Amino acid sequence: MRIDVISIFPAYLAPLDLSLPGKARDKGLLDIAVHDLRDWTHDRHHTVDDTPYGGGAGMVMKPEPWGEALDAVAPVVAGGRSAATLVVPTPSGLPFSQQVAADLATRDHLVFACGRYEGIDQRVLDHAASRMEVREISLGDYVLNGGEVAALVVIEAVARLLPGFMGNAESLVEESHQDGLLEYPVYTKPAAWRGLEVPDVLLSGDHGRIAAWRREQALRRTAERRPDLRHPAELLDDVEIRPAE
Ligand code: ADE
Repeated sequence: MRIDVISIFPAYLAPLDLSLPGKARDKGLLDIAVHDLRDWTHDRHHTVDDTPYGGGAGMVMKPEPWGEALDAVAPVVAGGRSAATLVVPTPSGLPFSQQVAADLATRDHLVFACGRYEGIDQRVLDHAASRMEVREISLGDYVLNGGEVAALVVIEAVARLLPGFMGNAESLVEESHQDGLLEYPVYTKPAAWRGLEVPDVLLSGDHGRIAAWRREQALRRTAERRPDLRHPAELLDDVEIRPAE
């Protein structure tokens, strides 16, 4: 997969060289480039924003630098289309989820447009949508200062799903959200620590009972903490649900 990130704060994206995305790059699964939007400005001050038409607080990102940046980074190929998917992190986007991450992980080329201020002139997105897939994505119902941190989150969630990335594919299958449930609690040695014991069943060696216990814990947690997630009532029949504390 190829990923291009466009931002006015490229240094914000330094973590892409580390840890998980760094590992994906080392394995040759991911090719990432970060671009400074100001490279596509032509005035002395490298201006990227201006006051909003219609008035109001804050500044809006100007269309011209974004248009040139996208022309360069997501060029139109055959049929007047670009092969890229444009990802625009914004609090007004569709909610990000494990399912969206899995979908994005199937693309060959993602371009992240990191907005700042009050956002990017809408025509940039409308124009891009006429030549490529555009996904406006929100991390949640809160406002960050710009799209950079959100882009890091999305890239990490996507990179770990790339085929061949995870050494142990089982850990992908078992983790939170993969089956629509939160993950069960986990324990490691020692079996007793500060007076707290690991649940007996996990020391039993009985794989059937362990699997049943984990499933019940996942259902209980999901019902208590995230009643909005999928947990069909029939699955919960055998689990007594305590109200969230
Ligand atoms: N940019 C600013 N706030 C954001 C959010 N909540 N999600 C994604 N991108 C953002």
